[in-house]
Amino acid sequence: MVNITVVGSSSIDLVVTAATRPKAGETIIGNDFQTVPGGKGANQAVAAARLGANVSMIGRVGKDTFGEKIVSNLQDKGVSVDYVEPVTDVASGTAHITLAEEDNSIIVVKGANDYVTPDYIKKSIDKLKQADIVLIQQEIPEETVEFVLESCHSFEVPVLLNPAPAREVSKKVIDNATYLTPNEHEFAIMFGDDNRSEVLQRYPNRLLITEGKNGVRYFDGDKEVVIPSFEVTPVDTTGAGDTFNASFALAIAEGKSIADAIRFANKAASISITKFGAQGGMPTREEMER
Ligand code: RIB
Repeated sequence: MVNITVVGSSSIDLVVTAATRPKAGETIIGNDFQTVPGGKGANQAVAAARLGANVSMIGRVGKDTFGEKIVSNLQDKGVSVDYVEPVTDVASGTAHITLAEEDNSIIVVKGANDYVTPDYIKKSIDKLKQADIVLIQQEIPEETVEFVLESCHSFEVPVLLNPAPAREVSKKVIDNATYLTPNEHEFAIMFGDDNRSEVLQRYPNRLLITEGKNGVRYFDGDKEVVIPSFEVTPVDTTGAGDTFNASFALAIAEGKSIADAIRFANKAASISITKFGAQGGMPTREEMER
């Protein structure tokens, strides 16, 4: 069993389903409202655990009912929460999601996730050292991402940075990441107007651009490759990226090649979007085999 440590956000998703998205100043009637567990970090932790990894989450929640729900959900899914501590007087993170027109739009309020600081990480540094691979995203402070990447680099522990949501990142962060998995929008923010093929060639077998339905693009040291995704009828695309990242990391830690790990992760992500909720469709290993 591989050991995966996830450093990142955990939130409650407040999900409204509607036929269309309201324009500015407009009020429309929606169809449904649900609260489900989310947050990119927690989603990735759950996705990896469902596929059979031994997962530790490093994160923070508020001392509120959402925080209790986040922690109990992680525990139920088999994720270790020894390093998910509550913050007093700060609300748990929330994501305000609209599902409409076959896609989602999301506003994240970070809340307690902003307290995943470098000092907080120092308390759990052994969890980074002991991991076969570390996963991190960008719903926590920038200096924490920098600190974790630098630490993993010095411990020679592979680390995957899922640069979502998009923000500019330093060259040092890019250099310290073993794998980077921007979508096309995040890629454009990270690399500006630089030519895509040239950028891919700078980071062979490390930079994977996730292109949704199109698949995943990377440079294999010799040529640019696109590994196609699987065709499914989507119910809810929320969490597909998280499922991809966790499954890719797990497959790499299990010794698969980059191409095979992407195929495995594409499959898991495709299955994940056939059910409602960021974590609702994340497959188990048995479901993947079936
Ligand atoms: O990646 C999907 C996640 O992004 C949602 O679960 C939501 O919490 C937002 O953070």
